[in-house]
Amino acid sequence: VSSEATRDEKLLEVCKFLNQEVPYYNWVGFYFANHENKTLHLGPYVGAPTDHTVIPFGKGICGQVAESNENFVVPDVKAQDNYIACSFTVKSEIVIPLFVNGINIGQIDIDSHEIDPFTEADERFLEFVNQEIATLF
Ligand code: SME
Repeated sequence: VSSEATRDEKLLEVCKFLNQEVPYYNWVGFYFANHENKTLHLGPYVGAPTDHTVIPFGKGICGQVAESNENFVVPDVKAQDNYIACSFTVKSEIVIPLFVNGINIGQIDIDSHEIDPFTEADERFLEFVNQEIATLF
């Protein structure tokens, strides 16, 4: 990625890379927090378009992570209360918060078409990815 690329272009490259390299990362995107309005806003992503471009804090997996500041791994979305379905093909989800100077500014959200594919290795890897991304802010 060239140093001329804008931050959103870099984030999109990260989404494309993760989606291409990991077979069970079927939708990869970023949401960013508006702390005044307590809403998340869809940023760069790859995968099926989603209607959920704005998500209130507390709603769905993403909205819960905006408030908890914790990783959220959902092995089977059917077994999850407070889940926002984007597509019937999605079976599982992982959301990892993105911290800049200790503030939760958003998250990386990954959907999978497989049941229970995410391990602690995914959590550690995506935490590392987010630490690198934090340096862009
Ligand atoms: N499933 C998410 C909504 C975002 S889509 O996965 C892109 C949720 O429950 O927060």
